[in-house]
Amino acid sequence: MAKDDSIRVPALPAELEKEFIFASRRLVMYPDLNVFGRLFGGQLMSWLDEATAQVAVRLMGTKNIVTKKFGEVIFDHPGKLGDSVEFWCRVEREGRTSLTLDCRVLVRDFTAQGEMLHQICHSNVVYVALDSKGRPKPWKQKSR
Ligand SMILES: CC(C)(COP(=O)(O)OP(=O)(O)OC[C@H]1O[C@@H](n2cnc3c(N)ncnc32)[C@H](O)[C@@H]1OP(=O)(O)O)[C@@H](O)C(=O)NCCC(=O)NCCS
Repeated sequence: MAKDDSIRVPALPAELEKEFIFASRRLVMYPDLNVFGRLFGGQLMSWLDEATAQVAVRLMGTKNIVTKKFGEVIFDHPGKLGDSVEFWCRVEREGRTSLTLDCRVLVRDFTAQGEMLHQICHSNVVYVALDSKGRPKPWKQKSR
């Protein structure tokens, strides 16, 4: 689907703010582009990991976490030079030692209709809390 066909939603939809946690925002600049002039997927994944790991640190209550798994990474639409790329996530699963985050990457557009958002990528990421020896360690869940 071309970017122009993508679903744009008014910023910020109530359900997004209610369910999702804002993680980070990055501006797409020249060094972030691939040879075709679009946002390089590897750069986007690096930003995604960095942004959502900070949310996992806050939720899990420890800095000693690792990324265990990147689920399927879907690049929904290309990111472009000058895009303001936002990273949002919500808790998908609270495990004993792990936390799975449902992650969305959104771009903010300014149109005649006002401020709009469209999704350029989504994935889910599993983080694991570790003890001082690097072994999985139970973390204190909010719901407990
Ligand atoms: C993280 C690490 C210590 C976990 O070791 P492990 O042998 O998988 O440990 P466990 O089997 O006890 O699993 C730990 C947690 O991960 C989850 N997990 C393991 N494999 C998984 C997978 N393929 N998908 C989803 N979750 C998984 C387990 O369900 C468990 O979570 P829970 O306790 O909430 O149920 C080890 O794999 C590691 O050090 N990996 C490298 C991490 C890394 O370097 N990341 C990149 C840089 S941050």
